[in-house]
Amino acid sequence: MGYVIALAGKGGTGKTTIAALIIRALKEKKLGSVLAIDADPNSNLGEVLGVPAGDNLGAILDQISADPNKVPAGMAKERFIQHQVQTTIQEEDGFDLLSMGKPEGPGCYCYVNNVLRGLMIKLIKDYDYIVVDNEAGLEHLSRRTSRFADILIVVSDASSVGLKSAKRIIELVNTLKFEVKKSFLLINRFNKNIPEDKIKETGLEYLGNLPLEPQIEELSLQGRSIFDLKSDAQILTALSLILSNSPLLVGGARGGGD
Ligand SMILES: Nc1ncnc2c1ncn2[C@@H]1O[C@H](COP(=O)(O)OP(=O)(O)OP(=O)(O)O)[C@@H](O)[C@H]1O
Ligand SMILES: [Mg+2]
Repeated sequence: MGYVIALAGKGGTGKTTIAALIIRALKEKKLGSVLAIDADPNSNLGEVLGVPAGDNLGAILDQISADPNKVPAGMAKERFIQHQVQTTIQEEDGFDLLSMGKPEGPGCYCYVNNVLRGLMIKLIKDYDYIVVDNEAGLEHLSRRTSRFADILIVVSDASSVGLKSAKRIIELVNTLKFEVKKSFLLINRFNKNIPEDKIKETGLEYLGNLPLEPQIEELSLQGRSIFDLKSDAQILTALSLILSNSPLLVGGARGGGD
C-alpha cells in the first residue's frame, strides 16, 4: 500500500512549494514510485515541478458530460472515467502527476471528488508514495481527497493568526473524522524555533520549520521548477533534517533511503 502525505493550510503558506520539495526529496532518495496529486482547482503544482500543462480530471469529466456517448456501450460510466483519468496521469522522471482541475460545465462539482476518491483507493495500491497538494482554506476539507492520509502536514506561517488557522484546520479534520493517521505542524519561512506553548495550543505535533529561501523566490519569479533549486540551498538542508528526524518518510511504506 502507498503512503499518503497530504498538505493543508491557509492560503499562500507554502503548501505547493513544500509538496514539490517533498516530491524532489522522495525522488532523490529513490524511496519508491511517487504520484503527485494536484488537488487544487487553481493547479500550479505541475508548474512548480516543471511539468508542462496537461489534461486534468475536471476537463475529462467535462468532455464526458458534453458527450455521454463517449462511454462505450456495456461499460460502467465510473469505470470509463477511471480509465480516462488514468490516461491523464503525466509520467515524469521520478514521479507521476495527476491534476484534478475543475469541471467548467454544469454538473455536480462534488462528483469530481467522488470519482477521485474512488480512484485514490486504486492509486494507493499502484504507488509507494502519494503526495497530495490541497487548495487553501477549510471548506474543501469536507469534500476533498485528503479524507485519508498517513501523514497530514498543516503548513503555517509563524504568526498568531496563522497558528490559529492551523488549529482550526486540525479541529475540522478531527470533527469530520478523516482517516488521518498522524498530523504535523510545519512552519514555513521562519528561521527560529516557535515557543513550545504556542505549538501546544495548535494541538498538532511539531515537525519543524523551513527558512525563507531566496532561491525559491527567484525561481518562483522566473516560473522555474523546484528541481532547479541548487542542492546546497538552505531549505533543502532544513527539509532533509526534518525528514531524517521524523517518521515522515522513514516510517513510510517502503522505508529505506539514507
Ligand atoms: N520557504 C520559502 N521561501 C521563499 N519563498 C517561498 C517559500 N515558501 C513558499 N514561497 C513562495 O511563496 C509563494 C506561495 O507559496 P505556495 O504557492 O507554495 O503557497 P500555497 O500555500 O500553495 O498557496 P495557495 O494557498 O495559493 O495554494 C510562492 O511564490 C512560493 O515560491
Ligand atoms: Mg498551492
